[in-house]
Amino acid sequence: MNNTISKWKAQSQEETFAIWKSPSNIALLKYWGKREGQLPVNPSLSFSLSEAYTITKITATPDKLNAGITGINNNTEHPFLQKIKPFWQTVIKEIPLLKDYRIAIETENTFPHSAGIASSASGFSALALCFISLAEKISGNQLSEQEFLQSASALSRQGSGSACRSVYGGFTVWGETHLWKNSSDIYAIDINEDIHFDFKQLHDAILLISSKEKSLSSSKGHILMNNHPYAAGRILQANQHLELFRKALSEGDFDLLSETSEAEALSLHALIMSSAGGEILLQPQSIELINRIRLARKNGLKIFFTIDAGPNIHLIYPESEKINAELYIRNELQDICPAEKIIFDKTGKGATKIH
Ligand code: PMV
Repeated sequence: MNNTISKWKAQSQEETFAIWKSPSNIALLKYWGKREGQLPVNPSLSFSLSEAYTITKITATPDKLNAGITGINNNTEHPFLQKIKPFWQTVIKEIPLLKDYRIAIETENTFPHSAGIASSASGFSALALCFISLAEKISGNQLSEQEFLQSASALSRQGSGSACRSVYGGFTVWGETHLWKNSSDIYAIDINEDIHFDFKQLHDAILLISSKEKSLSSSKGHILMNNHPYAAGRILQANQHLELFRKALSEGDFDLLSETSEAEALSLHALIMSSAGGEILLQPQSIELINRIRLARKNGLKIFFTIDAGPNIHLIYPESEKINAELYIRNELQDICPAEKIIFDKTGKGATKIH
């Protein structure tokens, strides 16, 4: 994170607040496995969503005796508190001027908990953005926009790795790679200037197979990569996939983009299945959808899939294919989803401050 923030001093003793809206994101190249300090073992690439976001307001009141997070939405037993409390320790290490403040959090998601969309990415990035805004307000300092987003990305990462990619709109890369000189393991970077016009607006239709809690949390999954027999091969493959993604996304090569995305999603599940415990997260309906999507693409429809660590299928298509793809989804795919539930989302503009 930006070192200067840790040296900022409080210039005001007033109660103050910050509000941010931050989106979830969908990774085409998956972050899977981490090192100490929530640093990734391989680079990842994603795009931010538009409809799935979290709005968070944090109120900070000077109060040494009751410093720390008091609750979420006035609830001192809120389930998210267990995840946020350790994050608060990171926040005050990075931004010591906040340590004598009582923190009240009000937050809401635009998507249901069970929607198959990672709420940790939007949730932690919204929190990080608010904390940095509060630090600016309390200290009277102001970062440049780039420094602000970079610091927010670095802080978000320490809450949930994938959250660091949510602060920017469009496409981002997190993890050091020779392909982008300014890339870093510490924060994500905006790579939109390398994206071909055809892919600037991608759609993500989330075909919901199950909204049950995942049997394998991503934190457990990352740990299982530590002694994974295929770890070295995976890191090599992820870096090769990044080269292919860069080529496909910058040249507007749809075939390369779809093949690489699907190979990547299936690799993630192959790694999960070959980890200790051998979890199978895909359901029969997930496989049926995969087969139908591939057949439709063979017949000329510009659609492909990606999958996170769960059974739900993210169907991706460019703006130019929206009408045909959505007709196909309703006619041929919807009935396979047990509750016939589909969430339609698309590339979004990233986090925004609410005044
Ligand atoms: O940020 P985490 O710890 O929830 O991990 C995210 C893991 C994946 O969603 C499977 C991949 C990714 O890069 O988002």
